[in-house]
Amino acid sequence: MDDGREVWIADLGSQYSPLIARRTRELGYPCRVMGWGELAGLLGDGRRPGAIVLSGGPGSLAEDGTDYGAAFRDPSLPVLGICYGMQVVAAAHGGRVSRGARGEYGKARIRLAEGRSLGPCPREFDAWMSHADRVEAPPPGFHVLMEGPDGEAAALAHGERPVLALQFHPEVEHTPPGRGILEHFYREVAGLGRDRRPGEALLREAREAVAPAVGSKVLCAFSGGVDSLVAAVIAKGMVGDDLHCLFVDHGLLRPQDPGHVRELARGTGLAIETVDAGETFLSRLAGVADPEEKRRIIGRTFIEVFEDKAREYGEKRGIRFTHLLQGTLQSDVVESASHGGAGASDTIKSHHNVGGLPDRMGLALVEPLRSLFKDEVRRIGADLGLAPEWLGRHPFPGPGLGVRIPGPVTRKALAKVRASDQILFEELKEGGLYDSVSQAFAVLLPVPTVGVKGDGRVQEEVVCLRMVSTGDYMTADWSRVPHDFLDRVSRRITNEVAGITRVLYDVTSKPPGTIEWE
Ligand code: XMP
Repeated sequence: MDDGREVWIADLGSQYSPLIARRTRELGYPCRVMGWGELAGLLGDGRRPGAIVLSGGPGSLAEDGTDYGAAFRDPSLPVLGICYGMQVVAAAHGGRVSRGARGEYGKARIRLAEGRSLGPCPREFDAWMSHADRVEAPPPGFHVLMEGPDGEAAALAHGERPVLALQFHPEVEHTPPGRGILEHFYREVAGLGRDRRPGEALLREAREAVAPAVGSKVLCAFSGGVDSLVAAVIAKGMVGDDLHCLFVDHGLLRPQDPGHVRELARGTGLAIETVDAGETFLSRLAGVADPEEKRRIIGRTFIEVFEDKAREYGEKRGIRFTHLLQGTLQSDVVESASHGGAGASDTIKSHHNVGGLPDRMGLALVEPLRSLFKDEVRRIGADLGLAPEWLGRHPFPGPGLGVRIPGPVTRKALAKVRASDQILFEELKEGGLYDSVSQAFAVLLPVPTVGVKGDGRVQEEVVCLRMVSTGDYMTADWSRVPHDFLDRVSRRITNEVAGITRVLYDVTSKPPGTIEWE
C-alpha cells in the first residue's frame, strides 16, 4: 500500500463505488476501494492516504450509528464526500441533515452559487442524483458551492480545509462535467501528483494478484475472450510453464470459438488444452428453465471439470495444480454483488465465474482483473502487445448460448440460435459493422408465432437480435444499425434457419434491460 499518495475510497454501499475507482485510475491517481471499517482501522494504525473519498450508499444517516470522525481528525487530510458521503461530511461537522419530502433520482439541473467556482465546471449543468436525505444547513466553516433546483445544497466546500462534498454523482457518465470535478479535487484541492502512465498502474495491480501463485501450478479457465486472454498472458509472464490453460467445450459454444482459441494458442505460445464436456453440461441442463439455476449448474460443472482435470494431472503425471486463474471483471463482481461486492448492492445476475462457484473449492482462485472494467482490460492487453482483433472481440458470456435460450436448453434450440448468431456475425463482418458495435448476438425466443412459408401456414419460433454500444458493460445503449442491415439479417435467418419465421430487434438500453436476456 502506497501511503501518502493513494486515494482510499470508502465503499459505503453504493453500486457506483467501483466507478469512482475507475474514474480515479483513469485520471492517473492510484486508488483502492475498501469498507469503512478497514479504512478507519488503517487510519487508527497511523497510516495516511493521499485523499479519502466517501462513496454514496443506500443508508440514511438517521439510522446509521457509524462514527466517521476518523476521516476528519487530521485537518490537512483531503476528503471528498459523494451523495451519502456528503451527508456524512455535513453531519460530522455539525450540519443538519434531514429526510427530504421526496427523493431525488435521475437528472437534476444544478448551478454554481453566486461568486463561487468549482474547477473547470460550467455555471450550470445536468448532474445525476440518487438520494432521499438532504443537507438542510451547511456546517460551520463550510459554504454552499452549488445549488439544486429548489435552492438546496448540491455541493459544499470548507473555507480552509481540503474538504469537498457533492450531493450528485460525478463518477457516472450522466454527469458530464464529473470527470473534470474529480480531477479538480485530486489535483487542486488534494494536491496529488498523477501517475504518468496510468496503464502501468493497472498492470501492476493485476500482477500483484498473481504474485501469490508464483512457484505453484496454475490452471486457467480459458474461454478465448478478452478477459481470460489478458489474465493468462499476464500470468504466463509471471509463472511461465507452470500455467496450463483449459478451454472447456460445454456444448454451448458458437462455431467460430474453437478456431479462435487455436489461433490464440499459436499467436501467444500459451499451452491450451481443449476439454470436450458437452454431454455432461447438456445432460445437467436438461429441463432446467430458471436462468439463475442454469448459471449455477454451468458454474458448478465448470469447476468440477477443472477439479477433475487437476486430479487427473496429479494421478497420471504427478503434477499438483493449486490455483485457478479466471478473467473475472469488476462488472461481474458488482452484478453478482452478494458474492463479492463490498457494499449492499443488489444481485443483478450471478455471473457464472462469480456466482456459480461452490463454497468449497479445491483450487485457490486468482482473479487479476477483478477490480477492472472491460475497456481497462483492453488497454492493458494493448500495452502487452496483443493483436487489436483479439482485443476487439465482442464478449461472449461464460454460460455461452445457454443464457440465450429463455427456458430449457435443448439441442434443437441450440442449433437454431447457433445458426442465427452465425448469420448475424457474418453479416456484421461483411458489412464492416463488427467494430462499431460493442456486442451483438441472437436470442432464441421459444414462442410459437404464425407465419407463411411457401403456400403454407406455419407456426414457428422467433429470433431476437441484440446489438449494443458500451465501454464498461455496466450501462449500454442499443445500437442504431442501418435498417438495410437488419433487413438482410432477417431475410437470411428466416430463409436459412429451419423453424424461425420472425426476427425482432431489441431496442432496450441497460438499464432497465441487461445486455443478455437471462
Ligand atoms: P449483462 O447481461 O449483465 O451483461 O448486462 C454484461 C456483460 O457481461 C456478460 N455476461 C457474462 N459474462 N459470465 C460471463 O463471463 C456470465 O455469467 C455473464 N453474464 C453476462 C455479457 O455478455 C455482457 O458482456
